[in-house]
Amino acid sequence: MTRLRDLGARIEARQARIGVMGLGYVGLPLAVEFAKAGFPVTGFELDAEKVRAIAEGRSYIEDVPQADVKSFVEKGALHATTDMNELTACDVINVCVPTPLTKTKDPDFSYMVAAVEEIRKRLRAGQLIILGSTTYPGTTHELYLPLLAASGLRVGEDFSLAFAPERIDPANKKFKVRNVPKVVGGETPLCTQLAVRSFEPVFDTVIPVSSSQAAEMVKLLENTFRAINIGLANEVALMCDKLGLDVWEVIEAAATKPYGYMKFLPGPGLGGHCIPIDPTYLSWKMKALNFPACFIELATEINTRMPEHVVRKVGDILNEDRLAVNGARVLLLGVAYKADVSDMRESPAIEVAELLIAKGAHVDYHDPHVPELQVGHHVLKSADLTDEALAGADLVVIVTDHSSVDYARVARVAQRVFDTRNATKNVAEHREKVRKL
Ligand SMILES: NC(=O)c1ccc[n+]([C@@H]2O[C@H](COP(=O)([O-])OP(=O)(O)OC[C@H]3O[C@@H](n4cnc5c(N)ncnc54)[C@H](O)[C@@H]3O)[C@@H](O)[C@H]2O)c1
Repeated sequence: MTRLRDLGARIEARQARIGVMGLGYVGLPLAVEFAKAGFPVTGFELDAEKVRAIAEGRSYIEDVPQADVKSFVEKGALHATTDMNELTACDVINVCVPTPLTKTKDPDFSYMVAAVEEIRKRLRAGQLIILGSTTYPGTTHELYLPLLAASGLRVGEDFSLAFAPERIDPANKKFKVRNVPKVVGGETPLCTQLAVRSFEPVFDTVIPVSSSQAAEMVKLLENTFRAINIGLANEVALMCDKLGLDVWEVIEAAATKPYGYMKFLPGPGLGGHCIPIDPTYLSWKMKALNFPACFIELATEINTRMPEHVVRKVGDILNEDRLAVNGARVLLLGVAYKADVSDMRESPAIEVAELLIAKGAHVDYHDPHVPELQVGHHVLKSADLTDEALAGADLVVIVTDHSSVDYARVARVAQRVFDTRNATKNVAEHREKVRKL
């Protein structure tokens, strides 16, 4: 207990060494933020290439400035390693490893288990372990606690354990690590208190909740809320398509209501490591309790059908001009899962490309953030966005609306455009060539 109480003082004095396991989209920004707050930070990573990049002062995450990594590495405030033995030296360990789905679309806990096994082998009195990966309610209490307690150390007395969901939004210019409130739920009141203290120097606002399960559920509510509302926007888009209405006009007008409505947009399908995946962690847990998560199932069904809808519309648009998908040249504009990022995880562009290729289309793409795209056995390379490339395509499909693209030029030069993101909303001329989702 004394060593745990000492941890509070070590955090106050910025003497506590902060460990971050997993230096990806979540872990690297968090590690840099702790270094900025004056803590010595060790990043743990399995990927030796990422460790090398950090040792050389390079950032591989778009939101993390190169200069920050370089200066903290040079000052010795931040270093990365593949050597898990360095976990012993850390006072606080934040776990930020992936939580994907298996091939059968069930939660894949293997990364979280592997990480906690490394911690358990070296757990010592006075350490605070904080799981930040998005996961089902009960992971910290039912999976992490028994494994860590198997070391013989007692939670809340010898070591601390908490869950604090990561809420980062890559490419968001307004909300960065610091100004997004941090939710924290510990296994005991002391665990919560210590986790709160560890985050206070880094986050403007820290919100304690009553348990690790509540904190886990907070994150799943947030992302399930998004998935369901995007599902509704997608279904409204399908309805408007049937009704001959412009869904974007309808949504923008609805969004003028100053209360009781929140704008969500339709699109070619869900992407990224969060929204398409996280609700499945909740529905999986509920299934084990014989509780069907109806909203999640329905939204998943609608959202996963969107790439097929996009391909059906491609066929309709070409058909109007007596062209077939088979043999058509289709240029996909933007393939990352969302605007202004390079992240391809779960991107609907991959399924759109696969379906088009299966139908015989010649698919090219342009994405300033994604130099190569793996589609089945094919590896495509990003084409330059020349006038020839635009004019040479039978159809340009805007799959992701990167802000660096001049959409007025796209509408001017291309023969036909299918805009799945309303990227051409401010384009006044050549609108007759543009079809929208
Ligand atoms: N990407 C986002 O926008 C975002 C936002 C909020 C929450 N999350 C959640 O945060 C978690 C991490 O996501 P991410 O996007 O940063 O993933 P990521 O794949 O970008 O990064 C995870 C890193 O962990 C490393 N890793 C895996 N096992 C490890 C181990 N045992 N020890 C050390 N390193 C290990 C991987 O090599 C990888 O570099 C997930 O649960 C995700 O759902 C992600």
